[in-house]
Order: sequence, then C-alpha cells, then structure tokens
Amino acid sequence: MAAYIRSAIDKGLKEICFLDHLTFTKQGRSLSMTPGEVPMYVYRVQHYKRKFKGIIQIKTGLEVDFNPEYTKIVEQIINQYAFDVVGSSVHFAGDWNIVSRQADRENKKLEFDRIYALYLDYLEKMLDYHYFDIVCHLDIIKKFNRRATLECEEKLADKFDKIISKISYHDLTVEINTSGFDHPVKEVYPSERLLKKCLEKGVCVTIGSDAHHPKSVGQHFDKATKIAYSAGCRALAAFTERNRYEIPLESYHAQ
Ligand SMILES: [Fe+2]
Repeated sequence: MAAYIRSAIDKGLKEICFLDHLTFTKQGRSLSMTPGEVPMYVYRVQHYKRKFKGIIQIKTGLEVDFNPEYTKIVEQIINQYAFDVVGSSVHFAGDWNIVSRQADRENKKLEFDRIYALYLDYLEKMLDYHYFDIVCHLDIIKKFNRRATLECEEKLADKFDKIISKISYHDLTVEINTSGFDHPVKEVYPSERLLKKCLEKGVCVTIGSDAHHPKSVGQHFDKATKIAYSAGCRALAAFTERNRYEIPLESYHAQ
C-alpha cells in the first residue's frame, strides 16, 4: 500500500482511493481478499490515512465482484466499515471468468455472442441491488478484443441502452477505467460511444487506473480525461464516506 501511495504522490495526485476486490466463488478459490481479510485491509488503509495526512488524501474503497448468491453477506460486510466508496462489477458470466487471459485462451471456441449476452444479463441484474456507488469497467467483456457478431450487435447495443438508463435512474456513477489501454482491446472502459450515452443521460463519471502494480497508479489519466472532456464531461465524481462530490475537469487539467 505504501508503494502505491508513494507512486500517487510522485505523480502529483491529490488523492488515492484503494479499491481492493472482494470476490465470492463457489469453488472456494481465493481470487481476492477473503471476507476475513477485510478488517485488516480497512485497518491498513486507516493507518496510511493518518500517516500521510496533509500529504495526500487516502480513501477506503471496495470493489465487489457481483454474485447474486452472496449479496446479503456483501451488504453485511459493507455496513460494518466506514468505506468512502463501494464499486461493483461483473467478472464472471456464468462460470466463465471474463477477465482471465487463461480462460480466454481455453474458451476460444465458445460462442462469444452468448457469453456477451450473459455478461449483460448479470450487469443488469446487479443494478437491482443497492450496496454500491460506482459501476466499474462497464464493458470489460471486450478485454481480449473479441467482438459480438454483426447480427447480435444491435441487440446488445439495445441492452446497453437499457442498462445505462437504469444506471441513470439509480443515480449511480460510472468508472472510466484506464487499464483497457494496456489490455488487448487497447481502449478505455467504457468505450467512447457508451461514455457519451452515459453523459447524455446525466450519469456522473469518475476515473480509475485499476492499478495492479504501484507504477500503474494514475496510468493514462491524461488520455482518459481528454476522452471524457470531448464526450461532454465537465466534472469528475469523487467520494468521501459514500457521499459524492464533483471535481471540475478544467481544474483537474490545470493541476
Ligand atoms: Fe475489476
């Protein structure tokens, strides 16, 4: 954590939000923190919050990997701690881990249209729950640069419209996740087209680097803020104790 914080300071960032993952799987495999590790995680972030006070603002976040079978326990965990922000995302379409390079290699023959539709079903279902503030990496399904067939594309675009309307209705924030620039797809999540749709429907956006290494903190923020600005965004959302506030994009650029 200290290395991530130092990297943020070196890059001139004024705040850093940790958004470690919480994933529940049937197989019992540990893909992220376990629920038992959450207290230590929160404690460590609090520790660094105090240690770096006055130097950089540190926020406690959590990214919950949506799984309809575990939402009750997720809510219990979230309610126990003073998180600044909670994100939610879909990493699994059924049993398929859509963010795994290995799973992508092993499932080359699977019909991608079906997996895509399943991913969107999960995403839509996730929006019926209210334990989170941010929808993370909205179209991560494109990570390995696989695309739906032309016949299916229109149907999936309609479904995305429906999802974005639901995000807007629930006043959720959408993350502009810059890690896609370093994945095979080589573009931001969500795509510029989807980002425009979000902004047209009045959805607030924030920005995240999804850093899995200290050097990745704040990666591609310049590119992402330019994309956001040209899509019509004039302020980025930030959170303290689950309350959203806005940072004007112009002033962010000026920093
Ligand atoms: Fe994620």
